[in-house]
Amino acid sequence: MKSVADFPKMKEKQDKIVMITAYDYPSAKLAEEQEVDMILVGDSLGMVVLGYDSTIQVTVEDMIHHGKAVRRGAKDTFMVVDLPFGSYHGDPYEALKVAVRVFQETGANALKVEGAGNLLPTIQLMIEAGIPVVGHLGLQPQQAAVLGGYKVQGKTQEDAEKILRDAKALEEIGVCAIVFECIPKQMMFEINQQLHVPTIGIGAGNEADGQVLVFHDALHYGHHHIPKFVQQFADVGAEIELGIAKYKKAVKTGVFPSDEQSFHLKENQSISLYG
Ligand code: KIV
Ligand code: NA
Repeated sequence: MKSVADFPKMKEKQDKIVMITAYDYPSAKLAEEQEVDMILVGDSLGMVVLGYDSTIQVTVEDMIHHGKAVRRGAKDTFMVVDLPFGSYHGDPYEALKVAVRVFQETGANALKVEGAGNLLPTIQLMIEAGIPVVGHLGLQPQQAAVLGGYKVQGKTQEDAEKILRDAKALEEIGVCAIVFECIPKQMMFEINQQLHVPTIGIGAGNEADGQVLVFHDALHYGHHHIPKFVQQFADVGAEIELGIAKYKKAVKTGVFPSDEQSFHLKENQSISLYG
């Protein structure tokens, strides 16, 4: 199992950090078998698994439920769990209680929170309590309603400077990595030059120290919208469709189950249920 101490070493060696999301036991097991460096139990859960149209409805209970399943499937992989919308935005000590609960109950190795600014004292409390935190800057999906959608961030000088300032502030208080979502590639390059903390990009070009993708996007599983920055590495959805169609046909035509797939009495045995 990797620890927070391993990622700066990977950054140093330019050994790219590979992160993918997982939300349940089988996906976690598959990711662990491929020895990814980190698994993220993302609140993207809301869209790709629970069928909501944003991350807003995802609850702390949802994150704990799915985080525990992922932990059972990936006992030896560094697991990051997202804190969901609204769960860390009020009183810092209330937020700390939520964080402690999610950390303890899921067995996560780190928690991820979006943003910096007013949240810095809250994040610092978590780190001081012994909870490694991963930051998340650039596009923050929990802010989509305020931003007016899911847009590329940091396209103006002012925005870009704010993102860099936030990143440095997060580094300063000791986050163990920062995810940058949907920012121009050149900006990721500039930021990466100025940070010691490992960076993980999504829709941020290839300049970050690592990459993260949503499991269902990368493998094309499901019917949700797939963003432009995703490469589809498999077509799992098509395979599943085909499998269900074949199963249906086999049942309808009586081909399944075959004699081989059935249980039989011994040769000289018979039963009668008619008394
Ligand atoms: O919830 C999620 O999957 C994420 C990644 C997109 C970074 O936060
Ligand atoms: Na997320």
